[in-house]
Amino acid sequence: MRVCVVGAGHVGLVTAAVFADLGNDVVCLDIDQDKIAALQDGQVPIFEPGLSEMVLRNQGAGRLTLTSSYPEAVPGAEVVFLAVDTPTGSDGRADLTNLRAATAELAQHLSDEALVVVKSTVPVGSGSIVRTILEENCRPERAFEVASCPEFLREGSAVADCLRPDRVVIGCSDPETVAPLVRLYAPLERPLLFMDVNSAELVKYAANSFLAMRISFVNSIADLCEEMDADIGQVIKGISADTRIGGHYLSPGLGYGGSCFPKDTAALASFSAEAGCPFTIIEAVMEVNRQRIPRFIGRLHNVLGDLKGREIAVLGLSFKPDTEDVRESRSLELVQALLAEGARVRAYDPVAVPAARRVVRDVRYCSNAYEAADGADALVIATEWNEFKLLDLERMGDLLRQRIIFDGRNTYSPSEMKDLGFQYVSVGR
Ligand code: UGA
Repeated sequence: MRVCVVGAGHVGLVTAAVFADLGNDVVCLDIDQDKIAALQDGQVPIFEPGLSEMVLRNQGAGRLTLTSSYPEAVPGAEVVFLAVDTPTGSDGRADLTNLRAATAELAQHLSDEALVVVKSTVPVGSGSIVRTILEENCRPERAFEVASCPEFLREGSAVADCLRPDRVVIGCSDPETVAPLVRLYAPLERPLLFMDVNSAELVKYAANSFLAMRISFVNSIADLCEEMDADIGQVIKGISADTRIGGHYLSPGLGYGGSCFPKDTAALASFSAEAGCPFTIIEAVMEVNRQRIPRFIGRLHNVLGDLKGREIAVLGLSFKPDTEDVRESRSLELVQALLAEGARVRAYDPVAVPAARRVVRDVRYCSNAYEAADGADALVIATEWNEFKLLDLERMGDLLRQRIIFDGRNTYSPSEMKDLGFQYVSVGR
């Protein structure tokens, strides 16, 4: 099948690569010509396990084409995915400028009977906006359909998630109108859930906000554990054994970050208030998340006192492991808070140093964890990359000026750290 994907970001590029890999003829379009030139040259600008190989393989086989040209990408496509970004506007609402522009542009080149599928995370009612823009810009004889198919892939496991989604949510007026989309997804053999477009759009916000709520909930319990001399690890063990609760998204830490949870919780809060239905739970979820770094800095104060002039080594800069993405990274927020207090920061991340350097300059970026620790007053673990789980702690202890570790991700066992002579401060323990 001929498929067009508009937007070569995380969602768009992965979607394009996966559908090409399934044997379709896919054209992926992005208006960022530098990005397209790099991709045409075989450079995949996203760190995502398995993606580079998949993009190159399918480009080589002629099934995946990258372009910035709508006349090249859209005509002939049976399914056109809209996967452009929908950033947070100044009022917390999703900014649909890019979605509107892409829709108006593609409308001029749409084939007869094309299915336009919105993959971007968009507020309820956006499907109707897309339909109206298409109606205004398409030639009248074009018979198009608009559907919603929100994407649930996670950064760092995007290819695997896209190949094996728990479910595929399809918002449409009638399942018969989305037959090409059903054919596209059929080889994955995953459950397809049909519903109306508004419900499908809301599913994405409800799912991300629910997961964010679990994180803020467990972080609040962790705070309570610190005050009441309880152990969050034991409490999680106790609650997650209840099959109604389960254990996902219950890791305590510095809070959630990334380009999705902060944006989607803010958008849900904003459009629910506008609908006259203020979502007070989500306001609290966001407030708990905002307090994570100030609270953690407070714990550094408890041990180190004034941070002015202190040398702090920070391990991990990306918003979570296995990605170079530093958008809304709690770790970068921590680094900025340390700098604001007059501390000197050296930092290391396996892949995110170049991205972090673009955001925060006054940091000594190091090429490994030991270099960062050498002569520092304390070490902070901010992102739980696997390589930090197996650090040579004896060596670390010898390099640090004092054996002090603040662990924002509960990487080590407190008793083992005590045996090694560390003053070890972790979350909720
Ligand atoms: C999230 C959702 O998980 C995806 O289903 C969704 O498709 C995506 O947003 C999106 O809307 O595009 P992602 O932002 O890649 O995916 O990241 P997650 O792995 O879900 O983690 C989000 C944040 O929560 C990270 O900062 C992570 O460190 C934090 N987290 C996660 C916790 O603090 N504790 C946990 O137990 C789990």
